[in-house]
Amino acid sequence: MESHPHVRVLRGKKILLGVTGGIAAYKAVTVASRLTQAGALVDVLMTAAAQKFVTPLTFSALTGRAVVTDLWSPAGNGQIMHVALARETDLFVVAPATANTIAKLALGLADDPLSATALASRGPLLLAPAMETGMWLNPVTQQHVRELIQRGMFVVGPMQGRLASGAMGIGRMAEPPQIIEMTRKVLGRNGPLAGVHVVITAGGTQEPLDPVRFVSNRSTGKMGVALATSARDFGAEVTLIHSPLQVGVPFGVASIPVGTAAEMHAATFNLLPRTDVLIGAAAVADYRPATVADQKIKKKSGSLEIELVRNPDILGQVGAQRQQSGHPKVMVGFAAETEDLLANAKAKLESKRLDLILVNDVSAPHSGFGTETNQVTLLDKWGDVLPWPLLSKDEVADRLMIWVARRIQGKGLGDLGA
Ligand code: C5P
Repeated sequence: MESHPHVRVLRGKKILLGVTGGIAAYKAVTVASRLTQAGALVDVLMTAAAQKFVTPLTFSALTGRAVVTDLWSPAGNGQIMHVALARETDLFVVAPATANTIAKLALGLADDPLSATALASRGPLLLAPAMETGMWLNPVTQQHVRELIQRGMFVVGPMQGRLASGAMGIGRMAEPPQIIEMTRKVLGRNGPLAGVHVVITAGGTQEPLDPVRFVSNRSTGKMGVALATSARDFGAEVTLIHSPLQVGVPFGVASIPVGTAAEMHAATFNLLPRTDVLIGAAAVADYRPATVADQKIKKKSGSLEIELVRNPDILGQVGAQRQQSGHPKVMVGFAAETEDLLANAKAKLESKRLDLILVNDVSAPHSGFGTETNQVTLLDKWGDVLPWPLLSKDEVADRLMIWVARRIQGKGLGDLGA
């Protein structure tokens, strides 16, 4: 399998990580480490107070780059470090952001390397505030944050929870995974799917038999969640219509939880007038029990027969009305097959009036339900067939979003085989 540890939207991005003097500074270490592992170039700037909590060495060891602690550090090319960094950055993340630093940023003060670089920087700024509840709720802090947001800065958190003082309340810094997700969303906001609403169905539907039992399948929802994450990183507005998932709904993605195929069908049609791109990654149960017992079905001697009736074909019905409504502009389906892959997929592509279908052999190892990887072949409505190698589900999702972005611009499979 192709190794793909990097996150596409972070790869090669120049990120400044400003660390200020709050106890949450220790969590900024994780942020620096994960961003670096995901392929970003992370330059850390620390205030004097931050260095009371964590040493610059910790950050430089993890990022492989120098840490700026002095306003007058030379950049090595005759420039002042904070001026050079401000010029080149894709995003400035301040985590944790104390009330003091937020006030400096709001007022345009520049008496330490972090605030001076922020003032000189033209790129976006993402703040992860962390402070005692009283400081956060103080009208002066609230006003500063409002002003920064009005000027186009982004804020993640703070959260409710236990604070350094031992008290419970609002003021805890957002957790590192959330800060990373928000970083991805901010970096991707002007991406190739900006202004496009992508709706994705995911997970295996659950068709109740009685109050405690249901008929379902082995789908975990991983592929759908990877698609939602990728669409978000490409700048799309994303809605995930999902039955219960074994993985979390990604940050920054709207979630519509459903149980049955009928509920998924209703939710999909509800959103249809606002849907630009529909991707059916859900494993929708083809049948449901004809009746749902009010009470738990008791065991008896002998066998039990359950009558199953057909569920609506969601993509099939959306496809049937596409031409009249004009929605969605782009429609993609998946075909999980165990035999006659291409012939079955082609029949589905046509009967559901899809633009593209991704077919995978769910009986093959490393492909299909519950795996981290997928080997898919693409068939488009113009008859092009393109097998992709075994890839991580994240990479399949990224490649599909490149196809979707091209399709929105009216292009076909083109050079997507690479
Ligand atoms: O016909 P089949 O179930 O194999 O088609 C698979 C594709 O159709 C997937 O994209 C799946 O999400 C979608 N589907 C659907 N409604 C159904 C069954 C499948 O939208 N009832």
